[in-house]
Amino acid sequence: MKLIIDNANIDEIRSMYEFFPMDGVTCNPTILAKEKRPPYEVLKEIRDFIEEGELHVQVVSDLADNMVEEAYKIRKELGDDTFIKIPTTKEGLKAIRILAAAGIRVTATAIYTQMQAFLAAKAGALYVAPYINRIDNLGSDGVRTAKEIHDMFRNYKFKTEVLAASFKNSRQVISLCEYGIGATTISPDVLDLLIKNDSVTAALNVFRKDFEKLCGKGKTMLDCE
Ligand code: E4P
Repeated sequence: MKLIIDNANIDEIRSMYEFFPMDGVTCNPTILAKEKRPPYEVLKEIRDFIEEGELHVQVVSDLADNMVEEAYKIRKELGDDTFIKIPTTKEGLKAIRILAAAGIRVTATAIYTQMQAFLAAKAGALYVAPYINRIDNLGSDGVRTAKEIHDMFRNYKFKTEVLAASFKNSRQVISLCEYGIGATTISPDVLDLLIKNDSVTAALNVFRKDFEKLCGKGKTMLDCE
């Protein structure tokens, strides 16, 4: 499962890359707005930092022809390997088909239903991004929806992968990880929850205290006698 950061803050991205085995960065217009800086300035910094990592950038327009124009501008500014996030509306499907036919990498986003995912995959998207927590908040089941989409793609032998998005807790991530989903994009606070565990901290404190009783305060395997 690819592990992607859903964030556009370069300091947070640097920090997550330092500790976690990351595969790239996704963002959307709301995430970019939080940076209060020109979008391409922010995105170029991210592009340079993540090097070969995947960068997924979303278009803002509603109409297919304008989405396609935005896609070409994004690629011109950020490179041809950038994934263009296209919202999976009727206009979006048209844009996905045009872009995919031109060999442009598309991530179909704003996926709430299996039918959207099917149509986006058939139109040529390489990833579809179901919004796990937002689906949960509609009284449905985001994790189940993502699993059903994953199964559907396998049944059809589509190459499209699920890039699950919009997580609010580690359980949602782990369920999809166990299932073998293609990728998840996760905010830094939820990423931290994947490894934060007070029982682990308590166990390590005991190890350290026991070792210090044996060898002295602050001693490690580096400087014990
Ligand atoms: C990803 O494609 C979405 O932009 C994002 O994950 C939505 O997350 P949110 O529901 O936390 O805003």
